[in-house]
Amino acid sequence: MLRVAVLASGGGTNLQALLDALHGSPSPIARVTRVVSDRPNTGALERAHRAGVPATVLRDPTDPAELLTALDDAGLVVLAGYLKLVPAPVVARFRWRMINIHPALLPGFGGAGMYGRRVHAAVLASGAAESGATVHYVDEQFDRGPVIAQTRVPVRPGDTPEALAARVLTAEHQLLPSVVLELARRGIPNQPVRM
Ligand code: GRF
Repeated sequence: MLRVAVLASGGGTNLQALLDALHGSPSPIARVTRVVSDRPNTGALERAHRAGVPATVLRDPTDPAELLTALDDAGLVVLAGYLKLVPAPVVARFRWRMINIHPALLPGFGGAGMYGRRVHAAVLASGAAESGATVHYVDEQFDRGPVIAQTRVPVRPGDTPEALAARVLTAEHQLLPSVVLELARRGIPNQPVRM
């Protein structure tokens, strides 16, 4: 059974989508076994508590040793709304076993500072006809690792960043669990996959 650790800094709706998808089945092939946050009192930590999943609040998210201890024996690490850069030794330890979900169609609209409302405002300002969500491998830079899977949503006339964000978030809640389950089925290959 694949042990999944989730790194989350915020409200945790992607974590919740994972919990609902993985813990729902009678004989799960994967379970969330740890939630790690870089800040206390977040929705993600509350959701972990409600689901009976152990949680860790990092004292120093830049400390590779602390993060490696928290991630312990995870077979897959999922960044779900985690806003800190993962220290390089941790990226190396989990090469091809650490994934992130980003609320846009990478490589566009990603990188340092591109999170939350800013992403969707940039997409709207660009005049793009569609946006979407991307699950990709984590490497030493924000949002740069190889893409695993993407899902597209339309940009609609008159969209506000909030309206687009909500449409993308709904797509994220379908994409992330499906990628995690497919990786679990494939036994987490030790080279990058594209779905
Ligand atoms: C999501 O839009 C995700 O793509 C981005 O941060 C947001 C997290 O939302 N990385 P939530 O905490 O999962 O609700």
